[in-house]
Amino acid sequence: MWTEAQKQAFAERGYFIASDAVSPDMVEELRQAARRVKARVRTGELDLYTDYRGEGEPYHVSGLIAPQYGEPIFAQYLVSEPLLAYVRAQIGRELCLGSLSMFTNPHDQVYNVPWHRDDGLVFDKDEATELAYLQEPRTQCRWELALEDDSALGVIPGSQNRYRTQREFEAMSNSRAEDLPGAKTIHLRAGETVFWNGNIIHRACHRPERERLTLIAAYKAYRADEPSQDVGRFRFLLDEAVRAGLPTALHVYYDRWKSLQRA
Ligand SMILES: [Fe+2]
Repeated sequence: MWTEAQKQAFAERGYFIASDAVSPDMVEELRQAARRVKARVRTGELDLYTDYRGEGEPYHVSGLIAPQYGEPIFAQYLVSEPLLAYVRAQIGRELCLGSLSMFTNPHDQVYNVPWHRDDGLVFDKDEATELAYLQEPRTQCRWELALEDDSALGVIPGSQNRYRTQREFEAMSNSRAEDLPGAKTIHLRAGETVFWNGNIIHRACHRPERERLTLIAAYKAYRADEPSQDVGRFRFLLDEAVRAGLPTALHVYYDRWKSLQRA
């Protein structure tokens, strides 16, 4: 249930944390599934769409609803009622599947994802252009669900509503993850979800000794006239076997996603 306080935090600070967006039982099932997937990816047994930091050191495992992962709980989570209630409250009922991935930590090194805004914002625009972009209505609902306690995500609260500073611009354009004025680390306990505005300036800091097992996902508001996009590395999600393995409630969102992909 999206409370007034959460709504206000989201508008002002660009994010809010929910402790009731998934049931504890489902968190436990998701944690076990995520551990199995991570173990298989780390041994090299499984790689559909993984980003690595060095050999055998994944930090981003994507497309978790594919049958090759053998973990139907991921797709069940996407249509679980507590989650959908939060998603619908933010972007309406006409949804299109976005993505479902896992972020984890390389085990042998510190790995930082530099400061950025999501959604491909180009940073070299003047203030009026950037503000016009930031003020466009939101069409995506993004969130992270921690399956282990997680302190990797850092945000600059309020930056989703304003022009970037010169220092932020330099950090974003030079792919740096340094400490920036006003930055705040998001501490999530296992089972907590942070929903955030993709326009907020954010980073992630992974440490080898701190296990990160966090799902990152998105839904989009569906628009049939949206231009199609190159499916790229998600080609494996176009396979008929993917749909057959999904819960019926997810079919309409998956079909909409598929209709907007160019193979
Ligand atoms: Fe991001």
